[in-house]
Amino acid sequence: MNIAIVYASRTGTTAKAAESMGKMFEEQGHQCRVQAVADADPAEVSQADLICIGSWTKGLYFIFQHATRDTMRFIRQLGDLNRRLAVVFCTFKLATGKMLPRMAKALEANGAEVVGQFQFRGAHPDDKFISFAKSLL
Ligand SMILES: Cc1cc2nc3c(=O)[nH]c(=O)nc-3n(C[C@H](O)[C@H](O)[C@H](O)COP(=O)(O)O)c2cc1C
Repeated sequence: MNIAIVYASRTGTTAKAAESMGKMFEEQGHQCRVQAVADADPAEVSQADLICIGSWTKGLYFIFQHATRDTMRFIRQLGDLNRRLAVVFCTFKLATGKMLPRMAKALEANGAEVVGQFQFRGAHPDDKFISFAKSLL
């Protein structure tokens, strides 16, 4: 599978998580490109077989959690995804609220099929993600 991972990171945690996710996908035999949201081209990313979009959690820790504005803008710029597979992820400290479902909804509004939502407390993908990466054909 051709996989694109696009992330928003303020202090590097989400960037590290995205790189680790990319390595895990590659270990399973997939091709993967990992890019910061500022560097990624939506037209190019929208051609991937699996599109993974991640952000650090921005909010008031217990409420108002959301992805960064750049992340949500990037999702809208992806255009018609025509049933392409997608994953949303974030890194956080305390709680993520409705952030991931909102990111998923925005991708679904573009026609994507969201097959995974992952949240990592820190830079390391968890067992749930590892199982997902292994299950991907
Ligand atoms: C302004 C600000 C707001 C944050 N709000 C939340 C929050 O609402 N919930 C949470 O769990 N973590 C929150 N965090 C913690 C970060 O999301 C977390 O440390 C994340 O892993 C940082 O990722 P990065 O290193 O890629 O920027 C906040 C951090 C900052 C700087």
